[in-house]
Amino acid sequence: MLSPAPAVTGGQTNPEEPQLAEIIVVTSGKGGVGKTTTSASLATGLARRGHRVAVIDFDVGLRNLDLIMGCERRVVYDFVNVVHGEATLKQALIKDKRFDNLYVLAASQTRDKDALTKEGVEKVLNDLAADGFDYIVADSPAGIEKGAFLAMYYADQAVVVVNPEVSSVRDSDRILGLLASKTRRAENGERVKEHLLLTRYSPKRVETGEMLSIGDVEEILGLKAIGVIPESGDVLNASNKGEPVILETTSDAAQAYEDAVARLLGESRPMRFVTAEKKGFLSKLFGG
Ligand SMILES: Nc1ncnc2c1ncn2[C@@H]1O[C@H](COP(=O)(O)OP(=O)(O)O)[C@@H](O)[C@H]1O
Ligand SMILES: [Mg+2]
Repeated sequence: MLSPAPAVTGGQTNPEEPQLAEIIVVTSGKGGVGKTTTSASLATGLARRGHRVAVIDFDVGLRNLDLIMGCERRVVYDFVNVVHGEATLKQALIKDKRFDNLYVLAASQTRDKDALTKEGVEKVLNDLAADGFDYIVADSPAGIEKGAFLAMYYADQAVVVVNPEVSSVRDSDRILGLLASKTRRAENGERVKEHLLLTRYSPKRVETGEMLSIGDVEEILGLKAIGVIPESGDVLNASNKGEPVILETTSDAAQAYEDAVARLLGESRPMRFVTAEKKGFLSKLFGG
């Protein structure tokens, strides 16, 4: 029989009961759509609401999440080291500077993509759960490579990040297929709860027909959007500062991410920042 792992970061564990952590994978078909930006903001938003959160970078070889979280200089050991028993979870988990219930597990920059194994990933997730984490956010690499498969395999929920353009939507459809067939839940006849998150949304470009609308994307993928994040220069500014954009409270993107966190937790909120300014409307209507 398995004995529960001891708490390594001061979480409350009860050896009588298995600890349940909700595993949320942030995934996409295409690269560069905003997964890491989203992982950082969702994890931070959940932690800001008092949940104990670990966010893991599954993009081995790239190492991006730690930069966006602003902890890159404190990475000594990473996810791959823990999977291979070269470091303990306690050594590798980096406590966030802003929230002491938020931890980052960085990706290795030097190892190759085969460095993660299914068994190794499962052990890390089980140890995090035993340590009392409420949420584990898995920042996935793009596409259908092994890292993406491992990031989604143990997920309870998936946030599928999509840009409002045809190629991104088409590739997301393939990811939805994998979530429904190649995950532990699928193998057990259960479903991974899927959420659609639209990012880099520009209402103006939707009006001019350069981008798909929220309704178009929802219809093609058969999913309701849990959030729509506007295209915003604040995202790059925040990432240059090593700050998840959700903490830039005056930013539209931050507020849209906060709404998405609320919806993820079951609250209902109206969608904001999704319409273009109606300046030219009257003149258009009256042909002026
Ligand atoms: N809402 C947004 N508005 C503007 N730029 C964004 C937005 N979301 C992400 N980006 C930019 O898109 C690029 C890719 O984002 P990233 O989160 O690294 O994507 P992924 O992890 O999917 O590769 C980055 O340069 C990031 O700053
Ligand atoms: Mg990324």
